[in-house]
Amino acid sequence: MEFDIRDINLAGEGKNKIEWAREEMPVLRSIGEEFSVKKPLKGLVIGACLHVTSETANLVIALKEGGASVFLCASNPLSTQDDVAASLVKDHGISVFAIKGEDNSTYYDHINRVLDMNPGITMDDGADLISTLHGKRKELIANVLGGTEETTTGVIRLRSMAEKGVLRYPIIAVNEAKTKHFFDNRYGTGQSTIDGILRATNILLAGKRFVVVGYGWCGRGVAMRARGMGANVIVVEVDPLKALEAKMDGYEVMNSADAAKVGDIFLSVTGNKNAVGKTILENCRDRTILANAGHFDVEIDLEYLKRNSVCVRRVRPFVDEYLMKDGRRIYVLAEGRLVNLGAAEGHPASVMDMSFANQALSVRYIYENSEKLAPEVYSVPSEIDKMIARLKLKSMGIDIDELTQEQKEYLSSWETGT
Ligand code: ADE
Repeated sequence: MEFDIRDINLAGEGKNKIEWAREEMPVLRSIGEEFSVKKPLKGLVIGACLHVTSETANLVIALKEGGASVFLCASNPLSTQDDVAASLVKDHGISVFAIKGEDNSTYYDHINRVLDMNPGITMDDGADLISTLHGKRKELIANVLGGTEETTTGVIRLRSMAEKGVLRYPIIAVNEAKTKHFFDNRYGTGQSTIDGILRATNILLAGKRFVVVGYGWCGRGVAMRARGMGANVIVVEVDPLKALEAKMDGYEVMNSADAAKVGDIFLSVTGNKNAVGKTILENCRDRTILANAGHFDVEIDLEYLKRNSVCVRRVRPFVDEYLMKDGRRIYVLAEGRLVNLGAAEGHPASVMDMSFANQALSVRYIYENSEKLAPEVYSVPSEIDKMIARLKLKSMGIDIDELTQEQKEYLSSWETGT
């Protein structure tokens, strides 16, 4: 069996973590149980490029229970949990190619090792696997039935591929399921981002001016949780509707130039380049903290910081101090990579339960329906989305009402008015 991980001897700790997460993932667990009886993925080779965490481990174990052979690499060089990777290899016989802190060339080498297995379905978080496949490894595309994509950034890249006519097989955009982005992006990113910032810095949030750059689902979640910890939240947003929403949600809304003068912490979560760029970096105060929760490490302009600083030193794990030419000290967390996965453990298992239930059921859907699907980006079928919501409620012991026949008829009628 092929693999490339930090140290197989870490497996014991990884096994405990995987089991701990499993207890919080009842929906995925029930899918895994069904898969292990019915084997709906028999004969399928899955190439997965996901954050290698204890939650992902439970997903790939469920896929294996369904009869698939799974090969896993990391979707970010800094997010791998080395002990989990070791347990997947040792205890579950799953090939993993991922080492926390790997350099860019190893990162792509690992993606290529997964592609070497000739996958029939690809699973991405950020679209690096599929983009490598459509670039340097085109010869493998003929074998692929379809793929899934986990995150907003990946879906944006895939839609751009589809619009340009270069996407060669169907994709299910897991991110677009309501049981994914309403919960994972908002409550998952909200909690895990605060967790990453606090583990890295141990600062007190109460009374700090916390600037959230980007007010999508993830930004809304982070703003909500930062406020809950007593921070004064400021939102910077380019979309007028979202900016208005942030204002009416009760936050201060400013442009970057004004926020730069008052912010203590800046958190980017936009999916775009240099969201924390020159305007903020040249005006921010001494001892400003910068962190990113967007998928790629492009959101904080690190090049600007390097050009305008006299030295960089690591002052705590995951905290780099840039001493600027004008004497200010600026702190960058987790090298500008996803702070929640770099400096903490990513979203809690209970929320990944729904995201990964969508992944597992989307893989089965593609395997069973690939002939009917065109090379486009599809949403998760709404029956799957609703079923996951029902299962999650059930696992929480919550019963909800159903419409009566009379109410259903009323909703589909047009004759009755005042
Ligand atoms: N993305 C965000 N949090 C995650 C986690 N815990 N596992 C896998 N992917 C994630």
